[in-house]
Amino acid sequence: MTSQLSTKGEAWSARFSEPVSDLVKRYTASVNFDKRLAPFDIQGSLAHAGMLHAQGILSAQDHADIERGMAQILSEIEAGTFEWLLDLEDVHLNIEKRLTELVGDAGKRLHTGRSRNDQVATDIRLYMRAAIDDILGLIRDLRGALLDLAEKHADVILPGFTHMQVAQPITFGHHMLAYVEMFGRDAERLVDARRRVNRLPLGAAALAGTTFPIDRARVAHLLGFEDVCHNSLDAVSDRDFAIEFCAAASLVMMHVSRMSEELIIWMSPRVGFIDIADRFCTGSSIMPQKKNPDVPELARGKTGRVYGHLMGLLTLMKGQPLAYNKDNQEDKEPLFDTVDTLTDTLRIFADMAKGITVKPDAMRAAALQGYATATDLADYLVKKGLPFRDAHEAVAHAVRACDLAGCDLSEMPLEQLRAFSPLIGDDVYAVLTLEGSVAARDHIGGTAPAQVKAAIARVREHLTR
Ligand code: ARG
Repeated sequence: MTSQLSTKGEAWSARFSEPVSDLVKRYTASVNFDKRLAPFDIQGSLAHAGMLHAQGILSAQDHADIERGMAQILSEIEAGTFEWLLDLEDVHLNIEKRLTELVGDAGKRLHTGRSRNDQVATDIRLYMRAAIDDILGLIRDLRGALLDLAEKHADVILPGFTHMQVAQPITFGHHMLAYVEMFGRDAERLVDARRRVNRLPLGAAALAGTTFPIDRARVAHLLGFEDVCHNSLDAVSDRDFAIEFCAAASLVMMHVSRMSEELIIWMSPRVGFIDIADRFCTGSSIMPQKKNPDVPELARGKTGRVYGHLMGLLTLMKGQPLAYNKDNQEDKEPLFDTVDTLTDTLRIFADMAKGITVKPDAMRAAALQGYATATDLADYLVKKGLPFRDAHEAVAHAVRACDLAGCDLSEMPLEQLRAFSPLIGDDVYAVLTLEGSVAARDHIGGTAPAQVKAAIARVREHLTR
């Protein structure tokens, strides 16, 4: 039995008198999912080996052998010829075993002054940093696509809603810019989280540090980390950065989901504000007339899955005593799935934004229903000297009369309007039109087309910097 263990290359084999069962092996192994960390594992190992050599802990020959072996392993992995063994539990032991096969004792010396605990923490941070950089690029693409859409339809008027009821007219450009803002905050959050991801755990070893004269600053520099983790116990057990990432990802997905909800409503034939290109929709297997907005619906659904991963990670960490516990191996699947879900969703949304056709006539017709310019009439009366509360009351009466007559405020004859306030003159129609209403909200953050165009220019300047 001992010999069976040692052929598997298990680092702890001598301590054990019987091998684990196949079920336990499958249960405890992580190689099936953590093999995606391989490039980062190799990068971390090379930095560690370089430092060991610079510190005189590893000979020049061993260092050269390790570099040669790792280059070959990387090409085997890239070519898909690397043999991943469940027996070797995880990505770290698989790579170390192959290295030893390729270069002999140098491979066995690589783990000097290191543990899988600080090794895996380093790998995840390197992986996270790259994922965040990718995602920031995708958020930039999505914001760019939304800006294009906003610019193209800066003047198109649609009803703005509160309580799902027509509230006030707004411009489509302005509506898109609301999402540009949301995704802008998402990018800021990820940039901020990246600073806490970008610190080096290596050197913490198993939990207490190492007896070798290591140079952690050198390893941090080689790997592009901004700092080292300052406490070895925290270094091997901290997963805050993964939770922060999932929280930031949850907010991105929440924004995507809110937007999805609107796209779905807008595309419903009863609303008909937009159409989404066929390549993002599917039909029904039974109802030939259907064209379903599957992409936004799925994105809305996948938001739940990302929230779930955030909850999963928070719960994973809440009961763990210092320092490393095997529980931590459970951090990877939720993290990877969050990255995959977010990446695919952002990519597809940036693409889909280009496939949205806006239907200004339907939007306009909807804005003309529901007395969207009632507030404009109240503001008009205030400007003529009426206190706002009285103006509000007068307009409420006018709206009621319109309701009975079945017309819009802008269609009511002047004489009838004056019955609600003698302050109303024939200049009132300028404020009762949709164009007049949106153009009048001409301040920073307002819906006037001129403001929308200025806001687009401001964001664009930022995006390209
Ligand atoms: N596969 C392990 C993980 O992902 C690597 C660290 C193992 N450390 C240990 N003490 N068993 O967490």
